[in-house]
Amino acid sequence: MAIDQVTSGIEGGTAGEISESIRNLVGAGMLCPGDSVPPIRELASELGVHRNTVAAAYRLLVAAGVAETRGRRGTFVRAIPSLEGEGSIALAGHVDLSSGNPDPELLPDLGAALGRTSYSAPLYGTAATDPQLEQWARASIEPEVRRPFAITITNGAVDAVERLLTAHLTRGDAVAIEDPCFLASVGTLRVNGFRAVPVRVDAEGITPDDLHRALSSGVRAVVCTPRAHNPTGNSLTAERAEALGAVLADFPHVLVIEDDHFSAISSKPYHRLAPASTTRWALVRSVSKFLGPDLRVAIVASDVDTGARLSTRLRAGANWVSHLQQRLTSDLLGDPDVIDQLAEARRTYGHRRTTLTGALSARNIHVPDSMDGLNVWVPLERDSTPVVDRLASQGWLVRDGAQFAATPDRPHNALRVTASTITTDRARRFSAALAKILAG
Ligand SMILES: Cc1ncc(COP(=O)(O)O)c(C=O)c1O
Repeated sequence: MAIDQVTSGIEGGTAGEISESIRNLVGAGMLCPGDSVPPIRELASELGVHRNTVAAAYRLLVAAGVAETRGRRGTFVRAIPSLEGEGSIALAGHVDLSSGNPDPELLPDLGAALGRTSYSAPLYGTAATDPQLEQWARASIEPEVRRPFAITITNGAVDAVERLLTAHLTRGDAVAIEDPCFLASVGTLRVNGFRAVPVRVDAEGITPDDLHRALSSGVRAVVCTPRAHNPTGNSLTAERAEALGAVLADFPHVLVIEDDHFSAISSKPYHRLAPASTTRWALVRSVSKFLGPDLRVAIVASDVDTGARLSTRLRAGANWVSHLQQRLTSDLLGDPDVIDQLAEARRTYGHRRTTLTGALSARNIHVPDSMDGLNVWVPLERDSTPVVDRLASQGWLVRDGAQFAATPDRPHNALRVTASTITTDRARRFSAALAKILAG
């Protein structure tokens, strides 16, 4: 419902007063999420002010996260965005190849490990990071970053990315993200009012030309997945990482966040993105994919200033990530049996991806076999949404590539098929069903 010009109830003679008045109407429930505010020209004439004053008032509303502009359609009161995430709700009679989840059988038994954990409960005032986990993190990350760094622990990677962005950026700032993109990163940008600038991903990772374009357009941060990109499964090659580093070298103050979510079970080497000249950087290593998403721990190595900002933000809110989770993480990561289990998980996921890509290839659906991660990305030469619907009607749940668009105007015609628990029989039957749909 558009607010009526004559009875708008909006008051004020300055941008600040007009924006305050609209915020009060929203607060009182007289303007609801999704409602449009009056066109600039109309409100200016109603209030007897210059159009620029109303335009400035609307900019204040957008900056405060109260309203959003939808191009020529106008300015609207912002609704709480509905966000897509990993996971799915089991549907009886369906085979779920959509969840993006790890195989529970390949995760260590956290319940059993809890009983063996050397944990003593700290009180307020204790250092935020568990010393044993910090030691493990420093030893494993030092050879890879080769410069001074801080270690901070967050409640997973998505939490880390959000805290990092909000520590350095403000609402309205532009952030370069991969296209297609991990759903939670798109959501983080939307919720915090950052503007997504898409950077295409090809077989070797994000593309230098697109990155250069994004950086030249003024993005303040780049979020990149160096390995096992979700959804495509692509990883940065050494050559690509070097080329991207050369592009980033001209923009030393742009925050570079590397979300290395598959680290310990990746089948690819890690190639560092941020060049030595980058002043603000963070390497985020979540344990969700190999110790389980419920452990809610990510290790963040970052430049020292970013580390200080991150821990200050933590102190102002959650304070610290439970030492119980931290100690459990470091006990598990230091356990030789768990290390063997992780190696087994890496082999098994590789085998399952190949099982699926092989079965697809036998049906003439060819996808690259260089992928990593839990999913297989199947590009289509037609609109993927009806294909996803037809698969669902036959009992196969997969994710529509369109969901992973970095911005809604660039949907991808592809399927993301989670291969983490797939069997040979299922891979064959799924490929046959897909081939039949594509032939129809
Ligand atoms: C790219 C990417 N980053 C991070 C994560 C894990 O996030 P978190 O540590 O918050 O569970 C995932 C899980 O699907 C992912 O695909």
